[in-house]
Amino acid sequence: MYLVVLLFASALFVSTFALDNGLMQTPPMGWLAWERFRCDIDCEHDPKNCISENLFTDMADRLYEDGWMDLGYVYVNIDDCWSSMQRDGKGRLQPDPKRFPGGIRRLARYMHDRGLKLGIYGDMGTHTCGGYPGSPLDKIEIDAQTFADWEVDMLKFDGCYSNTTEQEQGYPLMSKALNATGRPIGYSCSWPAYQGGLPPKVNYTQLGLICNLWRNYGDIQDSWDSVLTIVDWFFENQDALAPAAGPGRWNDPDMLIVGDFGLSMDQSRSQMALWAIMAAPLFMSNDLRTISSGARGILQNKMAISINQDPMGIQGRRIVKEKSGIDVFLRPLSNNASALVFFSRRNDMPYRYQTSLRKLNYPTGSYNIIDVFTEKTMTLKDSTDFVVSVNPTGVVMWYVSAPAKMGLHYFFRGGHHHGSSYDKDDENSLPQLFL
Ligand code: GLA
Repeated sequence: MYLVVLLFASALFVSTFALDNGLMQTPPMGWLAWERFRCDIDCEHDPKNCISENLFTDMADRLYEDGWMDLGYVYVNIDDCWSSMQRDGKGRLQPDPKRFPGGIRRLARYMHDRGLKLGIYGDMGTHTCGGYPGSPLDKIEIDAQTFADWEVDMLKFDGCYSNTTEQEQGYPLMSKALNATGRPIGYSCSWPAYQGGLPPKVNYTQLGLICNLWRNYGDIQDSWDSVLTIVDWFFENQDALAPAAGPGRWNDPDMLIVGDFGLSMDQSRSQMALWAIMAAPLFMSNDLRTISSGARGILQNKMAISINQDPMGIQGRRIVKEKSGIDVFLRPLSNNASALVFFSRRNDMPYRYQTSLRKLNYPTGSYNIIDVFTEKTMTLKDSTDFVVSVNPTGVVMWYVSAPAKMGLHYFFRGGHHHGSSYDKDDENSLPQLFL
């Protein structure tokens, strides 16, 4: 009897408070202004880079024309510093009239006309982190309705200038308010980042019910040091974090800074690879008008994107941490496939790391491998030792397809060779891959 009541109560809880928008069954992808353009509001002296409608239409044009949108990068997201310092006569938020003369609704239409989506930023305290008007408890409903009226597609809801009790009420309340508008609006909660990111303070079960994604940790900056700090925090806490992720609910380690100033090409590949392993939202914060072809190639890598977007939505984990400074990460993918990342924390030279799929706990079998960044292919038996050469602060990333039956493998070996294949008994032929 108690059980029945309990079940009923929890069903009621879910139906009353769950964010029921069906969105973001795979991690959302797009562009977000903050890391690259911050709170630059000086349109007089810096018209090309200031937070204004022109910045967002410029980025929309690039996403639309330069192949990004077709790869899934569809969100164009406004961050802080978009609004006027005052609410309008009816108590609604309004954009800065000089910088957004056409208003947010027109900007949303601009996106929708091109198949893109518009995201906006709010804060559940008295002020945003940048000091603009916030959406405290008594403003949440009217602000959710305003965003829906503007036809906005996503909300990042920050937590500056609010306390723990207000957050406990405000984040679920905004979820409910967004639901009540009837417009599907992706909901990004910064809540856990303000609670230290870890249970028992953070309730990831609840977050999964009320938000589509959430920032767990501090802000990314334009440096390798920042990326590494974030990566280490997420994988050190993977047991608490990974189970929280799944279709419609994602951990967010923050924006991609590939294409900015702080990362080498190797470090850029590392960020892309590890964000794919983490099933992280892929929000680039860079200048798509001037991005280098190298950075573009990394962000537009189809295999890395498809690994990130795998429909099972299982967040990957670090499975090996070697004293040598090599870490190995694995993400299970649909169709019995998986992604592997070999990452080097070293600062000396490319490191020749030797292992085998068996040592990485793969079951017996023969596997087809595709190197995500070189597109080289090969076949490897679980028992075969191989060597990967991993650049300092760089990665080697593999897509590993389901094991073929051994008999089939031998059959094919007799016929054509797809890439290279190695035999365990071939003592002298230790494969040296991707040198
Ligand atoms: C916080 C967030 C950032 C950004 C800024 C804006 O620091 O974590 O992502 O939104 O506020 O002021």
